[in-house]
Amino acid sequence: MNILLLGPPGAGKGTQGERISDRLGIPVLATGNVLRNAVRNGTEQGRAAKSYMDRGDLVPDAVILGIIKEVLAQPDMKGGVILDGVVRTVAQAEGLNSALSDLGRHLDAVLLFEVTDEDLIRRLGGRTVCELCQTPYTGKDAGSACPKPGCGGKVVRRMDDEPDAITTRMKAYRAQTAPVVDWYRDQGSKAGRSASNANGTRVIAIDAAGAVEEVTQRVLRRLEE
Ligand code: AP5
Repeated sequence: MNILLLGPPGAGKGTQGERISDRLGIPVLATGNVLRNAVRNGTEQGRAAKSYMDRGDLVPDAVILGIIKEVLAQPDMKGGVILDGVVRTVAQAEGLNSALSDLGRHLDAVLLFEVTDEDLIRRLGGRTVCELCQTPYTGKDAGSACPKPGCGGKVVRRMDDEPDAITTRMKAYRAQTAPVVDWYRDQGSKAGRSASNANGTRVIAIDAAGAVEEVTQRVLRRLEE
C-alpha cells in the first residue's frame, strides 16, 4: 500500500506516520527528515535546502523529485510506503504519480489531516524533536536525551518552530499545498468516480484532533474500508 500523508505543519503527520508504519509494517519516507539529516551531515543537498527550511519556505521541486525517485527505487520500499509530507506542490504530485507508475505502482490513498490553526500553533509551540531519529515530542525539554531505545540522540527545538517560520510554513501550506488536495480530488471528478481518482487514489479526510491513539485508530479504520 502506498499512502500519502498531507496536512498543515503540526497536524501530526510525523507522529501518525511512525505509528501507521509500525501497525502496517511498511516503511516511512519523510522528506522533512531526509532534508534535516542532509543539513546535519553538511551534504550538498543539505546546503541547498537549509535556508529554505530555516525560513519555513518550501524546498524547490527538483530537489524533492530527486529524493522521491531515489528512495522509491530502494528494495525495502517495494512492498509499499508511507509518504509523510512528500508532496507539497502540484508539480510534486505529478512527479510522484509518474515515479510510481514507472515502477508499476500507484498511490492508494491520500490522508488529509485536519486540525484547527489554534491547535497547530499550540502543538508546534510545545514540540521538541530528536536530532538523530527525528521523533517529535510534546512536553520533553530541549537538551534532554531521546528516550527511544538505542537512539542516543539529543532532543532539540526545530529552527522552523519559531513564530516567524511557523507563519511562513502555514502560508506556504495554504498557497502551495492546499491546491494539491484539490488536484487529487479533481482527478476523481474527471474519472467520474467519487471514492477514488483516475489512478485509483482515495482522498480521505481525517479529523486529527484528540488523543494520538484515537487519531491512529481513525486512520486504520478508514484504511480498512
Ligand atoms: P516537515 O518536517 O515535513 O514539516 P511540516 O510539514 O511543517 O510538518 P511538521 O513536521 O511540522 O508537523 P507534523 O504534521 O509532522 O506534526 P508532528 O507529528 O511533528 O518539513 C520541514 C520543511 O522541510 C518544510 O517546511 C520545507 O522547507 C521542507 N520540505 C519537506 N518536504 C518538502 C516537500 N515535499 N517540498 C518542499 N519542501 C519540503 O506533531 C507536531 C506536534 O504535535 C508534536 O509535538 C507532537 O507530539 C504533537 N502531536 C501530534 N499529534 C497530536 C495529537 N493528536 N494531540 C496532541 N499533540 C499531538
